[in-house]
Amino acid sequence: MVIQLVLLFLVFQQSLSYQLDGVVVTLGDHDALQAIKNGLTDPYGYLKSWNEFNSGACSGDWVGIKCAQGQVIAIQLPWKGLSGRLSEKIGQLSALRKINFHDNSITGMIPSSIGFLRNLRGVHLFNNKFSGSIPVSIGSCPMLQTLDLSSNSLTGIIPESIAKSTKLYKLNLSFNSLSGAVPISLTHSNSLTFLALDNNNLTGSVPDSWGSGKEAQLKILTLDHNSLSGNVPNSLSRLGNLEEISLNHNKINGTIPKGIGSLSKLRILDLSENDLSNEIPISLSDLPKLSSFNVSYNNLSGSVPFFLSNKFNSSSFVGNLQLCGFAGSAPCPSLPPSQVLPSSPSETSKNSGRKLSLKTILLIASGALLGVLIILCIIWICCMLSRRSKASKSKNGDNVRKVTTAAAAGEKGVAVSGTEVEAGGDMGGKLVHFEGPLVFTADDLLCATAEIMGKSNYGTVYKATLEDGSQVAVKRLREKIAKNLKEFEGEVNGLGKIRHPNLLSLRAYYMGPKGEKLLVFDFMPKGSLASFLHARGPDTPIDWPTRLSIAIGAARGLSYLHANESIIHGNLTAANVLLDEQTNAKIADYGLSRLMTTNASSSVVVTAGAQGYRAPELVKAKNLSTKTDVYSLGVIMLELLTGKSPGEPMNGMDLPQWVASIVNEEWTNEVFDLELMKDANNGDELLNTLKLALHCVDPSPAARPEVHEVLQQLEKIKPAELPVSSGEDGGD
Ligand SMILES: *[C@@H]1O[C@H](CO)[C@@H](O)[C@H](O)[C@H]1NC(C)=O
Ligand SMILES: *[C@@H]1O[C@H](CO)[C@@H](O)[C@H](O)[C@H]1NC(C)=O
Ligand SMILES: *[C@@H]1O[C@H](CO)[C@@H](O)[C@H](O)[C@H]1NC(C)=O
Ligand SMILES: *[C@@H]1O[C@H](CO)[C@@H](O)[C@H](O)[C@H]1NC(C)=O
Ligand SMILES: *[C@@H]1O[C@H](CO)[C@@H](O)[C@H](O)[C@H]1NC(C)=O
Ligand SMILES: *[C@@H]1O[C@H](CO)[C@@H](O)[C@H](O)[C@H]1NC(C)=O
Repeated sequence: MVIQLVLLFLVFQQSLSYQLDGVVVTLGDHDALQAIKNGLTDPYGYLKSWNEFNSGACSGDWVGIKCAQGQVIAIQLPWKGLSGRLSEKIGQLSALRKINFHDNSITGMIPSSIGFLRNLRGVHLFNNKFSGSIPVSIGSCPMLQTLDLSSNSLTGIIPESIAKSTKLYKLNLSFNSLSGAVPISLTHSNSLTFLALDNNNLTGSVPDSWGSGKEAQLKILTLDHNSLSGNVPNSLSRLGNLEEISLNHNKINGTIPKGIGSLSKLRILDLSENDLSNEIPISLSDLPKLSSFNVSYNNLSGSVPFFLSNKFNSSSFVGNLQLCGFAGSAPCPSLPPSQVLPSSPSETSKNSGRKLSLKTILLIASGALLGVLIILCIIWICCMLSRRSKASKSKNGDNVRKVTTAAAAGEKGVAVSGTEVEAGGDMGGKLVHFEGPLVFTADDLLCATAEIMGKSNYGTVYKATLEDGSQVAVKRLREKIAKNLKEFEGEVNGLGKIRHPNLLSLRAYYMGPKGEKLLVFDFMPKGSLASFLHARGPDTPIDWPTRLSIAIGAARGLSYLHANESIIHGNLTAANVLLDEQTNAKIADYGLSRLMTTNASSSVVVTAGAQGYRAPELVKAKNLSTKTDVYSLGVIMLELLTGKSPGEPMNGMDLPQWVASIVNEEWTNEVFDLELMKDANNGDELLNTLKLALHCVDPSPAARPEVHEVLQQLEKIKPAELPVSSGEDGGD
């Protein structure tokens, strides 16, 4: 060791005399570079070139080293597969301006000696494995412009000193495990342009002292995916250069400040997954450059300003229980006070959805009245044209499966709307909305294009696409089987009030002048459990946690029907369990027998269950009970476990009999869907669910559990499963 050092010294003395390129590296720099080389592990041998036997450090032959006047000014070794540690001796490279080791696997602490580097401008250490905390000494680098330590494993707090350099331009500390508060000093910087502190563990509130200096430059501010609380600071509105604000996935509450609407360069505003409440300020409509907007999963209420709902789809707004008026959502029940303009009473009584939008337009663009009139004309012409083309299509004996719901309803009439109940018009139809986020008028509904999705005992189901692109499911009830008008209305109004995350919500109904009846439901993009399970490609497996959570969802929905609504479903099948975007189960078709005449609904009972979900006792008596529903739920659970459809008999047995026969032969594992056997961890859960399902399909109704007991058991099997919330439905 000693000999080596002596040798190195001799070699160094020798290189002093080489005078290569007229430049000689100083003693201190030479020493530091050797220490850095020794600290790092260099599997690809890049640092072999750091060898004074051929030439000196500043000769240009040393990979990644740049010098000026005999001093190292930059070390740049990105993407070199380096591991090991970065030596504290780096602080001896007194002329160093740039340290660039990004995209390596270097571990250990960030050397605190970099605080000695009076000329340091850029530190690029992102995508490494540095740990420990950010050295406080970093504040002693007066020239620091860029500090990018993102994607490491740094912990501890962000030192207040970090913003000391008056030149600091870019600070990226994202994707670490930093904790503590956002340093106030950052809000006072007049040079900082990019600030990324996202994906850490920061707490406390977002400081509210932004832009106190007049020259604030901040363009990008990302604080998302932390645990920040407090409010969205008002002072952000002073940062006139802001282009992006990402505060999503925190615990921020309060109201969205109006002032955000004055940030004319703002392109991205993401406030999703927080606890923000109250209305979305209408001022946000004024942001001319806004191209990405997200307030989903908050506690916002009121109606979405027209320009936002017009520009962004539902994925920007979902998950706010009381927010209405965006594409694919529910109508706003009445005008929120802050958006009401003085108007004549006759106007407020009709077309609330569309009127609101127009008012909003007028409010924002009162100077551009002419433009608004042109837009109105275009909308009017479009609707007329589309209606005419549809009418001519259906006249031409349109035999494709696309028809208009107007045609489906057997009329081309126009109905006039009101706040909740729309009535009147030449043809005398009537549209009644229930609570929820869908906005449409009878006109919109009858003007929609519709595609047949299926037929059931109760009628035909269409997927209807409204002019604004939003989609709803429309069920046209079979004629002559519904109750008389008065009874029908009584029952349907009851069904329209039922809200549960696992029950498909009835959003509206329409009664045509000749007695046609349309029920409007949320459209479920993933379709039914039956098609999800049985009509998929071989390369799209469905894992056990997903299947179990569908079973739990269905049990929750059914349990709510039985316990809170005293409704027996009577026709629970995998085709009636629908799936929303997050694959949450939503039971459909409940309570519909209440809308039918007694004769009609008992004939439905007789024909239902042909597909293999019908409890055996229904063959003799037509008495539906909670236990016949539990039997159907049991069959659905077996379907999830086996991947087999109860529609296809196996050796002359129905699904429960087939499963029981195999289990009795003690071939239990043969029963399960092969896909599920790949994950060994599922074993106990599969077996326990199988036992429970077989209990549910016990031939004797008395032996079957009640659905709330089934739910309890399922929740025990998967205790981590939290109640699903669809975001837009009220819970139970
Ligand atoms: C910060 O770093 C992350 C991860 O390295 C990167 O994705 C992001 O674009 C950076 N942000 C800025 C503003 O430089
Ligand atoms: C974040 O902080 C909480 C408590 O302060 C701690 O329990 C959690 O492990 C931290 N998470 C990370 C990723 O550091
Ligand atoms: C926001 O949350 C804090 C607790 O983190 C609470 O004290 C405060 O009252 C909340 N403010 C609003 C407007 O909900
Ligand atoms: C949501 O906001 C409403 C007011 O709009 C408030 O009454 C309610 O407490 C809030 N809920 C939560 C969970 O913050
Ligand atoms: C909504 O818009 C985003 C882009 O802005 C797009 O990625 C997404 O697919 C859209 N979602 C729907 C349901 O249309
Ligand atoms: C909005 O945020 C939610 C939750 O983070 C996300 O699922 C959704 O895709 C986002 N939508 C858009 C348009 O960015």
